[in-house]
Amino acid sequence: MSTILHIDSSVRAIDNDNPSHNSLSKQIARQFVESWQETSSIDEYIYRDVGVHPPQFITQDWIGAVFTPQGKRTADQKRLLALSDTLIDELTRADIIVISTPMYNYGMPAQLKAWFDQIVRVNKTFDFDLKRGDFPLAPLLSGKTLVAIASCGEFGFEEPEIRAKSNHLMPHLRTLSRYLGVETMYEIVSEYQEFADDRHQASLTQAFEQAQSLALALAQSQQITHIDEQLV
Ligand SMILES: Cc1cc2nc3c(=O)[nH]c(=O)nc-3n(C[C@H](O)[C@H](O)[C@H](O)COP(=O)(O)O)c2cc1C
Repeated sequence: MSTILHIDSSVRAIDNDNPSHNSLSKQIARQFVESWQETSSIDEYIYRDVGVHPPQFITQDWIGAVFTPQGKRTADQKRLLALSDTLIDELTRADIIVISTPMYNYGMPAQLKAWFDQIVRVNKTFDFDLKRGDFPLAPLLSGKTLVAIASCGEFGFEEPEIRAKSNHLMPHLRTLSRYLGVETMYEIVSEYQEFADDRHQASLTQAFEQAQSLALALAQSQQITHIDEQLV
């Protein structure tokens, strides 16, 4: 069984009249999904473009609803949590999570952060217990694989490169991935978009190739797992 949850978060579309305006991160993510489909079927494919359709920001009332015991929530509180419930249900069903994101101001877009704020929720995706000492939060989901795909205008964001200390995108996704139940994370990054030179072309080509080869490898390993399950 493979359920893929695909979250795109660039505010740019993928089908603009001028193709040079198309989102690169969305195109690389699409390459991943299409390459997967060439090898293996996807049992369930859940797609959200949070860049174009952002989830609501959480509010004080939202937090109040989260901390109200489920059986005591008012109709208004249930309504406030409805989107969060739906997004968490989508996450829970997924084996593979594909998140594509641009780098905006050295981090993730506010729209993608809004999605995380809706789903990283106490007693749903993590629980909190002071008996655990200095690390009271523990994820409730497990066994998921994350493919994180990013496009940046500048370059050199990994240690020991020149902008490693300015990278608040992948390190943030790595930290949050734990609360999605992620146990294996792959990262594909295209850089140099703002330089529009050969380095950008090379970086973009490499990202497309990585998306393709990773999709083929993961799709095949899922097929093998599926066959193993049938044999048991
Ligand atoms: C609002 C905004 C902020 C950006 N901030 C950064 C940045 O901090 N660092 C960087 O390397 N590129 C930055 N960029 C460039 C984007 O990361 C780059 O254009 C990327 O390809 C956008 O992703 P997309 O092609 O999927 O839309 C920014 C672009 C925009 C529109």
